[in-house]
Amino acid sequence: MKIPVLGVCQTKFGELWSQSLADLILEAGQGALRDSGLKIDEIEMIFVGNMLAGLTQDQEHLTSLVASVLQSSAPVVRVEAACASGGMAIHQAVLAILSGQVETALVIGAEKMTDQPAEEIAQALMAAASPEEQAAGLTFPGLYALLAQEYLREFSATETDLAQVAVKNHHHASFNPKSHFPFPVTLDQVLSSSPIADPLKLLDCSPVSDGAAAVVLAGPSWVKRKSQKNGIAIIGSGQASDVLGLSQRRSLLELAATRQAAQIAFLQAGAEVKDVSLAEVHDCFTIAEILALEDLGFYKKGEGHVVEGNGEVKLGGKRPINTSGGLKACGHPVGATGVKQVVEAVWQLREAAGKRQVPHPHLALTHNVGGSGGTCVVHLLAK
Ligand code: COA
Repeated sequence: MKIPVLGVCQTKFGELWSQSLADLILEAGQGALRDSGLKIDEIEMIFVGNMLAGLTQDQEHLTSLVASVLQSSAPVVRVEAACASGGMAIHQAVLAILSGQVETALVIGAEKMTDQPAEEIAQALMAAASPEEQAAGLTFPGLYALLAQEYLREFSATETDLAQVAVKNHHHASFNPKSHFPFPVTLDQVLSSSPIADPLKLLDCSPVSDGAAAVVLAGPSWVKRKSQKNGIAIIGSGQASDVLGLSQRRSLLELAATRQAAQIAFLQAGAEVKDVSLAEVHDCFTIAEILALEDLGFYKKGEGHVVEGNGEVKLGGKRPINTSGGLKACGHPVGATGVKQVVEAVWQLREAAGKRQVPHPHLALTHNVGGSGGTCVVHLLAK
């Protein structure tokens, strides 16, 4: 499989009080088009990944909003898969191109979260959890805290191991001007930050962010016909699902959908885990990055926490993870995250990532999770 990525764009992530959801969609969409050299009327289909616009913006009709903002009459599809909405939108665009239905597609992931009070956002995000979890008054930090408690108990890992994830990802974000928190934090700062849901603290959590990202995709034959530069391509796109509630899972020590989605993507790409130069993984909470490192096959079960502090997954290490700063420090505008991960992978593969550039990468992986693991999308991109 080979779906060329012709253009990419990411807006700044953060508290963007002067930009509306429409402004963010416009900036990301136009930016990706400019980067691709295509005009909007060359785009045959648009996909928009978003989770919360109905709840936070009183706007459910995103398909038409996107058409208005970008002045396009092409078909628009809204894709919702909780925090994996962005990755899923790219997956759907890949399928549309592979099916032969369209030859070009624009994918936009966008979310506007910071206008609402924290309690309202926490409640809105819980729409991605099971009815029982909602009725119990759980929050997403609470759900991932349950996973963290189980992991720390089973593998004798420590809160310091979790905190190392935040230290590394803030370090990476300090080289990324588009990140929500472009500054480093120390281990002491993470460990002494306010308790949120034991053992997770403020600095173990991804923030509530605004932002958007976009990519332009095309079929290989279109690219050849138009003599377009064929630089970076998606060569694997795997998606898998799991039950909604944690209590129905076989194990709290893994996200099974990650394993399955990764297997599909690697099979499609004809690649192996050892070939991956860098990865953007779904670190909505520090424990989530450790689980992802294991479920994606980079490390054995129970060993993911060991590498967080030893430099192996840091810039300059063997296989850097979350060079953008991840969800933790680049920010997590939920519908935009999965698209932003692919944007970062493309910048890295183009060797255009500035101070956070990984030397001569060949294969990049992106990993986007919905809810507590009910949905997972994995993409593999190569030069
Ligand atoms: N990481 C680092 N700093 C953070 C932060 C985070 N996750 N969240 C907030 N901050 C900072 C703010 O910028 C602010 O700094 P300032 O005082 O210098 O302006 C300070 O901490 C207090 O912020 P505030 O907005 O009052 O925090 P909060 O207590 O309302 O929210 C969380 C903190 C962790 C509860 C919130 O960020 C959250 O719910 N995160 C998880 C989001 C989520 O569940 N996403 C879906 C994942 S599946």
